[in-house]
Amino acid sequence: MAKDTPQTFYLKDYTPFGYDVESVHLTFRLSPETTRVLSKIRFAPKADAADKTFFLHGEDLQLISAKIDGQEVAPEVTDKGLSCDVPGAPFTWEAEVEINPAGNTALEGLYMSNRMYCTQCEAEGFRKITYYPDRPDVMSTFTVRIEGDEPVMLSNGNPMGHGEGWAEWHDPWPKPAYLFALVAGDLVNHPGQFTTKSGKVVELNIWVRPGPDEGKCAFGMEALKKSMTWDEEVYGLEYDLELFNIVAVDDFNMGAMENKGLNIFNSSCVLASPETSTDANFERIEAIIAHEYFHNWTGNRITCRDWFQLCLKEGLTVFRDAQFTSDMRSEPVKRIEDVITLRARQFPEDGGPLAHPPRPEEFQEINNFYTATVYEKGAEVIGMLKRLVGDENYYKALKLYFERHDGQACTIEDWLQVFEDATGRDLQQFKLWYSQAGTPRVKVSEEYADGTYTLTLEQSTPPTPGQPDKAPRVIPMAVGLLSPNGDEVRATEVLELTEAKQSFTFDGLAAKPVPSILREFSAPVILERDTTNAERAFLLAHDTDPFNRWEAGNALAKEVRLAMVLDGAAPDGAYLDALEKLVRDDDQDPAFRALVLSPPSQADIAQTLFERGYTPDPQKIYDAAETFTQTLAQQLETSLPRLYAATTVEGPYAPDADSAGKRALNGRILSLLTRLDGGEQAARQYAAADNMTQQYTALAALMKAEKGDAQSQAFFDQWNDDRLVMDKWFALQIACAAPQKTAATAAALTNHALFDMKNPNRFRAVFGALAGNHAGFHHASGEAYALLAENLIALDKLNPQTTARMCAAFQTWKRYDAGRQSLIRARMSRIAGAPGLSRDTNEMITRILDA
Ligand code: BES
Ligand code: ZN
Repeated sequence: MAKDTPQTFYLKDYTPFGYDVESVHLTFRLSPETTRVLSKIRFAPKADAADKTFFLHGEDLQLISAKIDGQEVAPEVTDKGLSCDVPGAPFTWEAEVEINPAGNTALEGLYMSNRMYCTQCEAEGFRKITYYPDRPDVMSTFTVRIEGDEPVMLSNGNPMGHGEGWAEWHDPWPKPAYLFALVAGDLVNHPGQFTTKSGKVVELNIWVRPGPDEGKCAFGMEALKKSMTWDEEVYGLEYDLELFNIVAVDDFNMGAMENKGLNIFNSSCVLASPETSTDANFERIEAIIAHEYFHNWTGNRITCRDWFQLCLKEGLTVFRDAQFTSDMRSEPVKRIEDVITLRARQFPEDGGPLAHPPRPEEFQEINNFYTATVYEKGAEVIGMLKRLVGDENYYKALKLYFERHDGQACTIEDWLQVFEDATGRDLQQFKLWYSQAGTPRVKVSEEYADGTYTLTLEQSTPPTPGQPDKAPRVIPMAVGLLSPNGDEVRATEVLELTEAKQSFTFDGLAAKPVPSILREFSAPVILERDTTNAERAFLLAHDTDPFNRWEAGNALAKEVRLAMVLDGAAPDGAYLDALEKLVRDDDQDPAFRALVLSPPSQADIAQTLFERGYTPDPQKIYDAAETFTQTLAQQLETSLPRLYAATTVEGPYAPDADSAGKRALNGRILSLLTRLDGGEQAARQYAAADNMTQQYTALAALMKAEKGDAQSQAFFDQWNDDRLVMDKWFALQIACAAPQKTAATAAALTNHALFDMKNPNRFRAVFGALAGNHAGFHHASGEAYALLAENLIALDKLNPQTTARMCAAFQTWKRYDAGRQSLIRARMSRIAGAPGLSRDTNEMITRILDA
């Protein structure tokens, strides 16, 4: 195949590897530019194998020698791997390769971050370490010897011994190569201990570089212990090694990685302190630690047969970490936050050129499929399944899953079979959620006569790339009914919508009820219903389902803003009154009030306009947002100082959900206050803050008002040697910039001495903030498009994976007017035509352009 014709992989082509791997022994002779990797692998041909091709993946490796049963062999080597003639009986393969960790800026395989050796093997990075059948259904035990002069040298499993210049590790659990890890460097540990429910003592460590990071491990350690307890209590799952290590690294493409017994974390996802981390950071860190820990069973003990099944482990583990966060914090708040993220990340994906089902059927580069659809929609699908079969059946099915499939590499079919066997329910139609892309629309109509209320639901899903027609799915619609006086007359009931159009009746009602539909957001769909703002306000005041109360407020906020954008209307007075009432209602949870007070994002308004057939004008959306917030601030003027005082959290900082909720509300109030008092209160808060949440909130309010120059400089002076805090500083300036200044602000920051193209966190701080500033990114000048495109072209040469992911910033381009479309198209064509473009980026740009 010609080098420039990208190869596509298909789910339907799956064939097992023809050999069992009985054991793997690896020796690493570490050296920054010339690391030697010696492998000794025992292969046994499978008796029943249809295909006995002996092909080992290998990329960017320099083969020094290869032997079979001690005899030199001369395999046929390409840039993808090697093939070799092998015996028909079990044999030992030995190879020595040389790799260059210091030159590895792609951060995949073995690389160096801050003078520390570390690895990232998922999905297909192990092939950059040595020749191997690098596929998740090949599982084996690994014994690893590390030779080098690093003070700390870690790998998976349990320590077998160490001495001057060497360390040995053995992982007794068979695993796919993507879970392999190695870390070596000058590291110190923050220790902990956990006793499992059956009495086994597990040693826990969080490893960091000596220095200030040592003081940022305590919270992560507590989160780890909480996760271990929770998984025992809720799923009955115990940890299975003597040791659990977490390492923090500064240069990492993703958030964190669940390598067996040796999790590797982006330092931003594990290190926390009150002075340097916000409440949102604390919540996220707790969730990610839980997520990676939970993978030990959902991902590691039971893994994926192939990468098409990625949502088997990721969707389930996201679902589990969301359950954990609900239990640790607030269930409704977590649900609302997740739905906000789903709509911000997954809905645009599902409605655009990158749409794919939670289980894709083809890919060129698997790294491009670690998407919101695989993760978040994958988790939503499990939530629907749980709702359909009930809690008891859900846990029964999971118990069966762990019993039946422990030690295996599984498929979505295996997963659904377990539910069918445990519950007797036919899941044929449910399975469509895994194979169909696109967000279903559910259109609601209603009728009331003689005490009977009829709800008619009609589902349809717009076409997505490669899927013009969609069959009706099973959609669990959680519905409750309220009487006109605000009492709940029907508690939540799950209606199962299975047809294209279906009616449900409720008898014995004294008056026409107000329906509360899709409670808890029981399915990832878009609800279409003709209703009034008065009814939304009624639900905001009376619904017993907290999610739907927020949803009513959110829908109302959107309608008000849409009217402002489309008709130039003034902000609706009744809505402002309802908001005012809620903000001042001290009986309501502060976190909930903060959420209701947070306006829908400008991207969300743009998306809604698009869904309704309009072409969004980013500048108009921005102006409406500004006018709205200003009007709200004025409406609340007299109560703001009191509210600010009443919601200020006194005393030493604690990252718990209650205090965080109060601070979130306090922050919303401060940002409104800043629009009226010229920034006086925010400046006072900034000066007095003893924690990052309050410091950051004050700085953001000031910068938004263009009154924060002094504080921004002070912030820089205070924190310039803390990389994670500096990421906030970079991002905030771009996030707060007015539309016409956004691109220039970002461009200037790319020339800052602390801008570092090679550090994904820093690159994302700048360009994630640029793409996230809706009106700034889509400013009619097109400057932001150009800036992003040029930087993506430059980054692609260093780090294709991060470049490709950031191309998604362009995925919504077809929503906008012809002028913007042609500006974006030109920039994407430049990327597509860049010489030597990576396979990763090429796939993303091609898919987006071909829409
Ligand atoms: N297995 C992934 C990490 C990963 C993703 C490795 C893509 C290689 C390629 C890990 O379990 C994960 O999902 N991490 C998430 C965070 C999580 C809380 C959803 C991440 O890194 O963003
Ligand atoms: Zn994961």
